[in-house]
Amino acid sequence: MRKGIVPGTFDPITEGHLDIIRRASCLFDEVVVAVAASLGKGGTGPLFSLDERVELVRTSVQGLEGVSAEPFEGLLVDFAREQGATAVVKGLRAITDFEYEFQMAAVNFELNPEIETVFIMSPPQYMYLSSSIVRELAALGGDFERFVPPCAYRALLERARA
Ligand code: PNS
Repeated sequence: MRKGIVPGTFDPITEGHLDIIRRASCLFDEVVVAVAASLGKGGTGPLFSLDERVELVRTSVQGLEGVSAEPFEGLLVDFAREQGATAVVKGLRAITDFEYEFQMAAVNFELNPEIETVFIMSPPQYMYLSSSIVRELAALGGDFERFVPPCAYRALLERARA
């Protein structure tokens, strides 16, 4: 039984994330989408609470066999070990992702060499996509429906109207 972790902030989940999760589910028997309580690269606080972000991921992965979502706090490698996972799966978009992801993979390896980091390349149509771009489009009234699953679209519209 091979278990992989797909970690992230998911503020909110996008179609780019879903593409990586779907492809990870082809490589592992079980995939746990790990929603971080704290922010990674982002500076300011998240738009959605941890509970909201987990719920949006859970709704979006319904129907994907072997895929679940859980919140986590603290070190990713500790969460992966607690879950009995052997690998962390991350999406790589453009070259700009590389340095940060390289650093994280190196630190995680140093902390626990038994947890492998696996990278999946984003397809061209999602190379430019990020949660922050989608949040900005939503706030400024741009069309972003095709970039996010329907539950995240509704949640962003509600937030933008509030
Ligand atoms: O969506 P993101 O910003 O790419 O997600 C980054 C995340 C949450 C995967 C990363 O920040 C993370 O793993 N945070 C947990 C803390 C940790 O283990 N840091 C690495 C060692 S300092």
